[in-house]
Amino acid sequence: MDLEELKKTVAREALSFVEDDMVIGLGTGSTTSYFLKFLGERIREEELEIYGVPTSYQSRLLALEYGIPIRALDEVDAIDIAVDGADEVDPQLNLIKGRGAALTMEKIIEYRAGTFIVLVDESKLVNRLGEKMPVPVEVIPAAWRAIAEEIEVFNARAELRMAAKKDGPVITDNGNFILDVKFERIDDPLDMEIELKTIPGVVENGIFADIADIVLVGTPQGVRKLER
Ligand code: A5P
Repeated sequence: MDLEELKKTVAREALSFVEDDMVIGLGTGSTTSYFLKFLGERIREEELEIYGVPTSYQSRLLALEYGIPIRALDEVDAIDIAVDGADEVDPQLNLIKGRGAALTMEKIIEYRAGTFIVLVDESKLVNRLGEKMPVPVEVIPAAWRAIAEEIEVFNARAELRMAAKKDGPVITDNGNFILDVKFERIDDPLDMEIELKTIPGVVENGIFADIADIVLVGTPQGVRKLER
């Protein structure tokens, strides 16, 4: 089964958590895009009263395209579930997120959700966080170099993320820059998440420790469900 098929399979499985009258946090990325498509179809077919709270402009545009009614975070009383992808998942279900540069709103919305459901294929499972992927850190633009230097004390190298299709750095939905931080080793994800947040000028970082409730893993043999 190819990667896109695995993504579609987990995205379909996530629909089993959806019920009428829910407010759903809408994640960002290629796996979640399939979920949004299937969610739109289900809302239409079953005439469900569901609102989505997008985590990015990308998911907002997709929700509009697929006919998912949307609300801003400050218009809803609670978020029942949130569904999103991830870049790495460790055995304790700590995550690295943010390849799509949407980590700040993702973390705000997913932290608020009653149940946060993560959709990945098995290539995203790692023994130790940071094994394959850098940790994205959203920073105030004027502070990028100062923060990159501060981060070196953690035995890490920070690189300013550059845009692929234009000259210059990637600009997030919040108007900030992204540093991609490659650690030698992350021993304690929660501790590192907190350490990074204390550096002045850091808006948010892509370590999501202790937030995921359920991880659905797409494998050629079917979907595995991991729970915390
Ligand atoms: C967006 O900022 C990210 O956190 C994505 O959720 C993450 O990169 C997973 O994306 P894919 O499903 O495209 O791999």
